[in-house]
Amino acid sequence: MRDFYPDEMLRRSFVFDAWTRASRRFGFEQYDACVVETLELLKRKGGEEIVQQIYAFADKSGRELALRPEMTPTLARMIAARHGELAFPVKWFTIAQCFRYERMTKGRRREHYQWNLDIVGEPALTAEVEVLAAAADAMGMMGLTASDVRIRVNHRALLGELLARSGIPADQHPSVFLALDKRDKVDDLTPFLTQAGLDQSAIASVNRLLEVESLDDAAQLLGEDSAAVHALNELFERLSRYDLSSMIQFDISVIRGLGYYTGIVFEAYDTARTGRAIFGGGRYDNLLTEIGGKPTTAVGLGFGDVVIADLLEEKNLFDGCSPSRDVTVGYMTDSERDAAVEVACALRKAGQSVDLATHTEKPKQFFSRADKKGFREAAYIGPDDVAAGSCRLKTMADGEERVMPLIGKSEVSSQK
Ligand code: HAM
Repeated sequence: MRDFYPDEMLRRSFVFDAWTRASRRFGFEQYDACVVETLELLKRKGGEEIVQQIYAFADKSGRELALRPEMTPTLARMIAARHGELAFPVKWFTIAQCFRYERMTKGRRREHYQWNLDIVGEPALTAEVEVLAAAADAMGMMGLTASDVRIRVNHRALLGELLARSGIPADQHPSVFLALDKRDKVDDLTPFLTQAGLDQSAIASVNRLLEVESLDDAAQLLGEDSAAVHALNELFERLSRYDLSSMIQFDISVIRGLGYYTGIVFEAYDTARTGRAIFGGGRYDNLLTEIGGKPTTAVGLGFGDVVIADLLEEKNLFDGCSPSRDVTVGYMTDSERDAAVEVACALRKAGQSVDLATHTEKPKQFFSRADKKGFREAAYIGPDDVAAGSCRLKTMADGEERVMPLIGKSEVSSQK
């Protein structure tokens, strides 16, 4: 599990802030829930890896509980509980702490935070488009561009159509999808596809399908009337209105390792496609019914804080992260403390972030601390300043000074 020291917290806040601003900019409302869920809600049949990674436990009265590995079942539970009262489509976001008992490698932790952005109750493609545009907006706020990241998109129905053409019956598709999603983790998919019920020739067809490189190739295989091809073409066309064409591409190998997706699916990677996905999501129109709710369509994504932090680090995009403290105020002896308090209070009232020394300091000690901690300005008050009725605020970068009166509380001009 993770500890966040202040410098790590700064980076985390940088990411959380971009997520929150993008959510609000796109009109999403924030929600939250307890990290402990009933195991029953989180368990699903079908052999998804995520279910095997759940931290589960019994409480003192023997109830089976778990730390959530993802937010989506909780979201579905919350929507189902208030279905009658909500005005659909619902656009909600949260930053959820999640736990998965994963083998820890680069980008995989046992605890991570995940930005979830979901539109529930909207069957139209606009939902996919807005969710993807919001995620791209958040990445833009972090300084990432189309040369850094690529959002790869596929459609479960397109794969389904291709599998059906290869003679693989629909009831085998869900387990084939989950097997195919392991492609980056294993060298040979054959044992997993065999376990999913495919024979040698079906496995050979599936491997050939994964070689389809473009949506045009897929369209040629499936013919003009494929609904999935239409939907994907439409998605690309609509995203071009947001200037996102260079960030989006079709990728037949994007399948997603969660069983509940029913339509368009997507994952974002760095352009070199190294490591784990930055975010992933898609349309999941049946989950609400599966947990006992009314049939409700849904689209959403999960965007973790671990993979993105590695990428921002690599691209030096955390460089601007520093504590937002404007001024530090110090004093020589206890006799100057009240004057220092007066200065600190006046500056705080003027909207500045002010650190007030907790004890007396010698000037050298004070200015060296001010320098190390990266304050923009420093005011050091000694007996001479109190006698003169004013103090000097020194700009740490260039040594420039401005004078501030000590008596009278209204004369501080807010800087910046
Ligand atoms: P997911 O693909 O399992 O989807 O996770 C989404 C993102 O969370 C991943 O792309 C990755 O950035 C991050 N993530 C997941 N597990 C870990 C881990 N162990 N360590 C670090 N980062 C991790 C879901 O969870 C879906 N519920 C997303 C969703 C929301 N679909 C619709 N709405």
